[in-house]
Amino acid sequence: MAYAQYIEKHLLNILYKVKGGNISHTFRKIRLIKKKNMNILEIIAKKKDGLELNKKDIDFFVQGYTQGEITDYQAAALIMAVYIKGMTKEETTNLSLAMSKSGEILDLSKFGKNVVDKHSTGGVGDKVSIVLLPIIASLGIPVAKMSGRGLGHTGGTIDKLESIPGYTTNIEVEEFISDVEKIGISMIGQTMNLAPADKKIYALRDAISCVDSIPLIASSIMSKKIASGANKLVLDVTVGNGAFMKTMEDAKKLSTEMIEIGKLSNLETVCVLTNMNQPLGYTVGNTIEVIEAIKALKGDIAEDLRQVVLELGSYMIKLAGQGENIEKNKQKMIENVKNGKAYNKLLELVQNQNGDISYIENTEKFEKAKYIVPVYAEKEGYIYEINAEGVGKLACKLGAGRIKKEDLIDKTVGIEICKKVSEYVHEGDTLAYIHLNKEDKIKESKSELLNIIKIAEKTKEKEKTILGVIE
Ligand code: URA
Repeated sequence: MAYAQYIEKHLLNILYKVKGGNISHTFRKIRLIKKKNMNILEIIAKKKDGLELNKKDIDFFVQGYTQGEITDYQAAALIMAVYIKGMTKEETTNLSLAMSKSGEILDLSKFGKNVVDKHSTGGVGDKVSIVLLPIIASLGIPVAKMSGRGLGHTGGTIDKLESIPGYTTNIEVEEFISDVEKIGISMIGQTMNLAPADKKIYALRDAISCVDSIPLIASSIMSKKIASGANKLVLDVTVGNGAFMKTMEDAKKLSTEMIEIGKLSNLETVCVLTNMNQPLGYTVGNTIEVIEAIKALKGDIAEDLRQVVLELGSYMIKLAGQGENIEKNKQKMIENVKNGKAYNKLLELVQNQNGDISYIENTEKFEKAKYIVPVYAEKEGYIYEINAEGVGKLACKLGAGRIKKEDLIDKTVGIEICKKVSEYVHEGDTLAYIHLNKEDKIKESKSELLNIIKIAEKTKEKEKTILGVIE
């Protein structure tokens, strides 16, 4: 009934517009409108009923949505149906390929036959790219990295880099490539016409709570990585309460799907499964994570962050054809942190993208939140749990992330953790600091964080940081 009314309304509109013009042209237009709307409604209905979409359906949706012919509400309905009913491997592959072709595909072949990229499925306190990529570039391996913004309760590298005054993330393709030629590294946002379908669907998923879905994550990541032009890829597939994949089983499934999509697109992919049961490193926010990353590049690095950076990096070096031996590759990375080359590469990157390097050289210059509030242990014992999702959500509430896609974020706020899981604390020890700007949120945030950081009498066995590698 609603559909018939829709067609009727358009029929009248068109007849009104042509005002006695060519009537067969009018009917052609009507048939076109009918076809378009039939299609998207049929596609939504098909997925809603749990049926498999074919390549034509998926291409039609991706092209139509990218070009603005399919509305946000129709796309939201389809994405929600995919979230609930899932997708077969073939559907996920078709979705990834259609999204990768929705805009330009970069040609990075001038950087050699092995051009390696890195991406994460999302985490809390994940400042890995800001530490890892300058190390990789300092080893002479070109880094052309397009990063994302925060999604759901997880942070985004681009939001973090924008905490550095002046740092430009919105750069045209030619400049991006010439920056990589000039200094060996560029880290930018998804601002170019690369996988525009992902850009729209990514923001939509965030706004309708449809983030943690294997086909949607796999197609989002693989489409932009295919479009970014590399032919080798290392993926950080996070697993645990702060990740979108809560179990090893799901993380393995996501990894194999992404590896298979990579194979079909000449993008050799390695997945490193990493633990996200507590925030990575010691900070969750934007400015405070950048400061932690700068310290890490000077050699002062949290153990879990160190392990993730070294594991991912050693596979990047291997895929770049610069060393088969994973342990030796780690040593090369450690060496370039010790001799300052990695830190200098960060300075070069920031300067080249118009950032003010005096902030990197003196992190005291970064604007701080108005209140930096300590949270004390209410009893003695061992830290049993620091739920990463809980910390991510609290940081978001303080303003570090977005609730609506148009929200502005507050770079200065976040959570600084002082003790990690399995450490012993005395009553009254500082567990964390909350960085915030709203005085009326202090009490509530403190009690929320005290609920998140659980203390038990017995020690908890330390969990592994690197949970596996799938090649
Ligand atoms: N990172 C992405 O680029 N997309 C997702 O869906 C999740 C993490």
